[in-house]
Amino acid sequence: MSLRHALLLLVTPLAVGALVLAACASSTPAGPAPAFTLPEAPAIRITPLPPLPAELPPEAAFPSVADPAWEKLPAAQVALGKYLFFDDALSGDQKLNCATCHQPDRAWIDGLPLSVGYPGSLYFRNTPTLLNVGDKPLLYWDGRLDGNDLPTVIRDHIAEAHFMNADGLLVVERLNQKPQYAELFRAAYGGGPSYGRMLNAVAAYVGSLYSPPSAYDRYRAGEAEALSAQAQAGLALFEGKARCATCHSGTLFSDGQYHNLGLPQNPDIFDEPLRHITFRRFFRTLGVPDYSKLEVDVGRYALTQDNSDSGYFLTPALREVGRTAPYMHNGIFVTLEEVVAFYNAGGGESSELSPLNLTPAEQAALVAFLENLSGELVSVEPPEAPAYQLTILGGDQ
Ligand code: HEC
Ligand code: HEC
Repeated sequence: MSLRHALLLLVTPLAVGALVLAACASSTPAGPAPAFTLPEAPAIRITPLPPLPAELPPEAAFPSVADPAWEKLPAAQVALGKYLFFDDALSGDQKLNCATCHQPDRAWIDGLPLSVGYPGSLYFRNTPTLLNVGDKPLLYWDGRLDGNDLPTVIRDHIAEAHFMNADGLLVVERLNQKPQYAELFRAAYGGGPSYGRMLNAVAAYVGSLYSPPSAYDRYRAGEAEALSAQAQAGLALFEGKARCATCHSGTLFSDGQYHNLGLPQNPDIFDEPLRHITFRRFFRTLGVPDYSKLEVDVGRYALTQDNSDSGYFLTPALREVGRTAPYMHNGIFVTLEEVVAFYNAGGGESSELSPLNLTPAEQAALVAFLENLSGELVSVEPPEAPAYQLTILGGDQ
């Protein structure tokens, strides 16, 4: 653009402006201009929502193993965690919450062989119970997360595309738009919502969920009639001839180690396109070099990339197992009878198990024993999620 053109562009609007001003001046009657006042804004009245109760939920405080650290958890954090656990605001599309998959009245599982995942992304593993999670040193079927760091497990769940697929900043902003949360966060942490506090509160709630003492525990405590004769025979087999306790040991019935049972694959993982996509994306994200060729769930191998770990999974805890069907990382067995029959046959191909030669009566006794590892299911009242409410900026509400 030439200098002359630039000047013209600058000068033209100025000239037009001067003309308009002149025209106005000539048509305005003499005298002072009336003061300009804004029209009265309609009064907005917002009745503040009542504060929500922040008491320790009744389902908390059932430690099967006395844990002094848990006793010190402030009730307000557990109470806040419960609201968050049941709040759809924690998922990307606000359509699901933790209880969609971990349903309290189903011993905190979904009852499906494989998890449904976030809408549009079916997952390829079974949903475990949340009872006694606070006592587990390792979490997830492949043990890839640390049980002593529950907030990271919650973060993984909120962020992962196959779980809740939500952006952390967005979730905190949503919580900020629900004024009742501000109060609950203040009571629990002395400040408003933040991502870290949110993860910590959900972890406090989840870490407070314990399975109450089972018939087996009462039997161990000296109440001989707590277990039927059949279940007692099952216990003897569990610890003896059936060799279950070599892996299912300790208070939770897990040695915390990885084993390969040679389980059959669940064909749904490969037949259902959305599940298949999640499967490939998962292993690709973990950096498995041959992720596009995998025909089995390689379990632990994805984390160590050591061939000897292929098909290895963490020994799961067995408390509440009578309620958590279907079984195994891929939900391949529907009943405990099927599980026991599988062990009796010596497991699957390339497993470290060998045949047990149990009679049908012995197999039934083992199942009867497993059914006695559940405590009374505590009924849980899902809270109503705190509501969104308009707040007036600069107002006193
Ligand atoms: C879409 C279903 C789904 C939703 C929603 C979901 N979970 Fe999970 N959860 C799972 C599945 C599946 C696993 C097992 C993952 C694996 O092993 O790869 C799991 C595992 C866990 C574990 C570890 C349990 C163990 O013994 O290894 C914890 C703790 C947990 N979830 C807590 C939560 C919390 C808290 C929320 C809400 C923030 C939540 N989950 C929401 C499906 C879900
Ligand atoms: C070599 C170690 C080992 C032995 C021995 C063993 N288990 Fe297991 N058990 C495991 C592992 C590992 C899994 C999880 C496998 C998977 O999903 O890939 C498992 C899973 C299970 C499950 C499913 C739990 C769930 O929540 O889905 C049950 C039930 C079970 N075992 C019962 C038994 C019984 C009964 C015996 C004895 C007959 C036994 N186990 C012997 C290691 C073992």
